[in-house]
Amino acid sequence: MKTILVTGAGGQIGTDLTAALRTLHGDAAVLATNRRPPSAGSPAAPGAFEVLDVTDSGAVDRLVRRSQPDAIYHLAARLSAVGETDPQRAWVVNMGGLYNILEAARLHKVRQVFWPSSIAVFGPDTPREQTPQDTVMRPTTMYGVSKVAGELLCDYYVSRYGLDVRGVRYPGVISSEAPPGGGTTDYGVAMFHAALSTGHYTCFVREDTVLPMIYMPDCIKAALDLMAAEFPRLRHHNGFNLAAMRFSAGELAEAIRRHVPQFTCTFEPDERQAIADSWPSSLDDAAARREWGWRPDYDLPRMTADMLGRLRARRAAEHQPRSLQ
Ligand code: SER
Repeated sequence: MKTILVTGAGGQIGTDLTAALRTLHGDAAVLATNRRPPSAGSPAAPGAFEVLDVTDSGAVDRLVRRSQPDAIYHLAARLSAVGETDPQRAWVVNMGGLYNILEAARLHKVRQVFWPSSIAVFGPDTPREQTPQDTVMRPTTMYGVSKVAGELLCDYYVSRYGLDVRGVRYPGVISSEAPPGGGTTDYGVAMFHAALSTGHYTCFVREDTVLPMIYMPDCIKAALDLMAAEFPRLRHHNGFNLAAMRFSAGELAEAIRRHVPQFTCTFEPDERQAIADSWPSSLDDAAARREWGWRPDYDLPRMTADMLGRLRARRAAEHQPRSLQ
């Protein structure tokens, strides 16, 4: 049986990816870890769980030695906006955590590691439209710096040790289950929740801010498809650009308004605007399509309808009288 270790399993991607891996490989095959245990009412799927601080090299080494996973999905990280509030901590968590995982994987002969990079590897000097796979990477956030360094470190472990490390550069991720935490693209999720709760959202980037985004089912599909690809077919191993959707904050508000006509949105940019302005607005993902067959399923209208359907169903279930649940 294939066994899998997930770090950051309580986070935005970790919540859905852990559930998908358990569906694919069985509950017993997937050990979920997180810095903190799941809080009551969190959407984390039930199953094996251990607390793990990825910055604690001894704890990482002991857990990998003991659990002997075939694959590790290393998701624990600090995102761009929260990273800027404490860049030193962001470096320790993002780079220290990745180094500890790669070392444990090397020493204990883990077969595969998945580690997500991000559009945050790019910066103001990068071409913003159809950003190429291989291009200028001079980011202006500590999160981006750690992702560039992390991509290089992963490539080093591939070439030096033959460790099979793979990853993609995720755009902003839109999800209905766990919320994102501390990212610049978080408005993409927050807008949906606000539309159904108060009917109004004050967006922290300008209306004309265009960023690449991806819906969670495509985000999970990318990770699973890349991990299933034949190693010799990969010329890149990590840092694959992924294009799925691109839209402005105003276009997202408009797409939601088609389903929630009373929804209003105002735009009051804060310090996250500068981060958003330094990132691409669209990506060339030809390498991912060519090397492992990447193809997204969701565009803006389809994602919007699905998101609102899921959030409405959850709100209805939460508001049901206990006797009917
Ligand atoms: N969603 C991330 C962020 O906004 C980018 O990878 O920080």
